[in-house]
Amino acid sequence: MEAVLSPVKTKEDLLFEDSLRPRNFKEFVGQETVKSNLKIFIEAAQKRDEHLDHVLLYGPPGLGKTSLAYLIAKEMGVGIKPTSGPVIERIGDLSAILSNLQMKEILFLDEIHRLHPSVEEILYSAMEDFRLDIVIGQGPSARSHKLHLKKFTLIGATTRAGRITPPLRGRFGIIHRLDYYRKEDLAKIIKRSASIIKVAIDDKGADQIAHRSRGTPRVANRLLRRVRDYADVKGEGKITGKEATNALDMMEVDILGLDEVDRKILLTIIENFGGGPVGINTIAAAIDEEKDTIESIYEPFLMRIGFLERTTRGRRVTKKAYTHLGLLSSSTPQGKLFKESKK
Ligand SMILES: Nc1ncnc2c1ncn2[C@@H]1O[C@H](COP(=O)(O)OP(=O)(O)OP(=O)(O)O)[C@@H](O)[C@H]1O
Ligand SMILES: [Mg+2]
Repeated sequence: MEAVLSPVKTKEDLLFEDSLRPRNFKEFVGQETVKSNLKIFIEAAQKRDEHLDHVLLYGPPGLGKTSLAYLIAKEMGVGIKPTSGPVIERIGDLSAILSNLQMKEILFLDEIHRLHPSVEEILYSAMEDFRLDIVIGQGPSARSHKLHLKKFTLIGATTRAGRITPPLRGRFGIIHRLDYYRKEDLAKIIKRSASIIKVAIDDKGADQIAHRSRGTPRVANRLLRRVRDYADVKGEGKITGKEATNALDMMEVDILGLDEVDRKILLTIIENFGGGPVGINTIAAAIDEEKDTIESIYEPFLMRIGFLERTTRGRRVTKKAYTHLGLLSSSTPQGKLFKESKK
């Protein structure tokens, strides 16, 4: 099965994301606390006619970090220059970008955890004092130059909050974590997207898709497109509850939105480590994924749906997960394992 449930963006998503992005705060569904806080800061900055404080947005992929960055710019009525951590290779690249920023303008730095350490270091004074300290030349002839910058706003985004260094993190005045969406919010997003891609959908159809979307708007939009294709070919062109269910079942989309990596994590802990507790490093090695990919992308979702627990001795798969995976009958070795490990 293709990775239809992966929260990570695919090339196909990129084709649609711009058109589906919310165009104002009202269209940005859910995340009420984040939104109301941002609105207050934006209003305050505008009253003082000042730049907005630097903003750090973090959380699993596909939850709306990039969308929010663009909305902030729009609401502030300022320009936004997007770039990303790995793209900035040299100090000179960043200095050029920073010195071209206008007053209040926004620099959107995606994947900020991937900045080169020497580049990151010059961000410190830029963020704090709007000043660049650059050393030109080497050895005895090296000279230090100070460059004044206009008061800009940096919006950093990352899926790996744990990889942001404390000095960088400390320079953000506004820090928000985006969380998984509630089903009702996903259903709203799905209906709005359906009207943009011009497909009819009823409440039950939207609910069905919302259920399997992994709490993630990006996945919701992707599933909607797949179900639309199915409805176009097999149905009447309208997405009803029945049609959505049939399409999603046919695509073997997990009823709770578990993707392949989620399953791999759970099954590995169950099959190789008796259901846990087992350390995150061991899990990472066993499934050949990076530790912080697991910690920042997969684990939060598995914990959110109550499939994984964190204990002092490591991660443990819960009974609920065994049930979902169909492993709880004592006639299967895993079912037995679960019972034994819980004795
Ligand atoms: N709150 C929301 N309301 C409506 N649509 C949303 C919302 N959040 C995200 N989306 C939709 O999901 C898509 C993905 O969101 P976005 O690109 O902002 O996620 P991201 O957090 O930046 O992901 P990544 O970490 O992969 O960069 C957007 O194109 C948008 O259509
Ligand atoms: Mg993004």
